[in-house]
Amino acid sequence: MTLRELGNTCVVGLQWGDEGKGKVVDLLLADFDVVVRYAGGANAGHTVVIGAESFALHQLPSGILRPDVISVITGGTVIDPAVLLGEIASLRERGVQIGANLRISDRAHLVLPYHRREDVLAERTAPAAHRLGTTARGIGPCYADKHARHWAIRVCDLYDPPWFRSRLAAIVAHKNAYLAGVFGERDMFDADRLADEYLAFAEQLRPFVCNTTVLLHNLLRSGRRILFESAQGALLDVDHGTYPYVTSSSAGGGGVASGAGVPLTAVQSVVGVVKAYATRVGSGPFPTELTDEVGAAIRTRGREFGTTTGRPRRCGWFDAFATAYAALFAGPTCLAVLHLDTLSGLDELKVCIGYKHGGRRLTEFPAAAHLLAEVEPVYETLSGWTADLGACRRWEDLPEAARRYVSRLGELVGVPVRMIGVGPAREQMILMPQET
Ligand code: GDP
Ligand code: IMO
Ligand code: MG
Repeated sequence: MTLRELGNTCVVGLQWGDEGKGKVVDLLLADFDVVVRYAGGANAGHTVVIGAESFALHQLPSGILRPDVISVITGGTVIDPAVLLGEIASLRERGVQIGANLRISDRAHLVLPYHRREDVLAERTAPAAHRLGTTARGIGPCYADKHARHWAIRVCDLYDPPWFRSRLAAIVAHKNAYLAGVFGERDMFDADRLADEYLAFAEQLRPFVCNTTVLLHNLLRSGRRILFESAQGALLDVDHGTYPYVTSSSAGGGGVASGAGVPLTAVQSVVGVVKAYATRVGSGPFPTELTDEVGAAIRTRGREFGTTTGRPRRCGWFDAFATAYAALFAGPTCLAVLHLDTLSGLDELKVCIGYKHGGRRLTEFPAAAHLLAEVEPVYETLSGWTADLGACRRWEDLPEAARRYVSRLGELVGVPVRMIGVGPAREQMILMPQET
């Protein structure tokens, strides 16, 4: 598969995450030199299937499986060193080469155990209606500390041990007081023990750490082709998603410039990844959710269980109204529609083309989550197909109803479809002729 005409490209999910970004990144990387994770952290779970092997990547870019590609984790991400080092060790055990091909920003913020604790306690103690259903990876509290600034620690802080110890001592005293006062926690963190643990992590991370902004500028100047790998999905973007049921970073593609430190003009194409239906993990409004046997069938057939947490994903019809809204701010220049194979066997397929609230058609995607939870989807119905699509490799191989369905999704979102997924394997992808 070659998509050389794309130039430097960002792969971004246009739904609520888990659209299949890992698979698309893996495929596109055949034509790229560098892959960059610019936001999020261990909350992400990107699957890459190569032959009989399946890899789940959390903090490492999906390009880590290709030794000739430089994998970069930039300052816009949050790093949990225990999880990252565990990920590196388990991939090495499986024969993946990780050395000079991995670069980690000295500006990235560190997730500490008190962030994870705060994440869990905030969820546990919030009234049921306000729980977000986070991945419990400490992402929200870490990004909150980053933006509040008083209590944050970055990778570079690890390499001045006296400074790190004194800063951590002050932070841990504050965190212990906070956790005791707000949540009644008695199991306190020990600053010295934590410092020892993190300074040991620092030595293991040292060979990878650098100023990734300078690195990326040098790579751009030398004409290397760069692929930006988004985590989460545009509807989970902290600014534009279904707030507060979102993640804490700029998941919508706009995060590339701020998170990776490259100019806006560095990105020429944006591949918007969607599933041929919709899924969501955790809480939050999901107007097209199917709680019936059709939703259960999609979950079973699509193996819709979280890559990071194992939680069953909520499944529903494709929401073209929400996806077109996501496309406004994520700016896809083409679409990759995955999991078309999962819909085989359904008599008819519904696609949401708008919302009604209080009997009136909405003209815009609502800002308030409680309002979004009350909308009634307006559906268009299309015919289904029965054939197994797993062996289709060309547009013409697809049944006519499947082609009509995909074309309609592209039309409704307003972006041309360039790739179609018909199974989890690398080769189970149809590349559309450019003029389609
Ligand atoms: P990501 O977070 O966007 O990278 O997506 P995940 O890896 O969390 O979830 C996508 C799941 O769908 C993974 O299990 C993939 O192996 C699988 N997958 C990707 N594309 C297809 C496809 O076209 N068809 C099917 N059946 N599975 C796919
Ligand atoms: P990838 O990169 C799907 C969801 C969580 C929760 C909300 C906030 O694999 O697509 P957080 O732990 O980030 O504070 O959780 O966001 N979420 C994801 N859902 N895919 C992801 O990543 C997600 N990362 C976070 O389920 O609803
Ligand atoms: Mg995922």
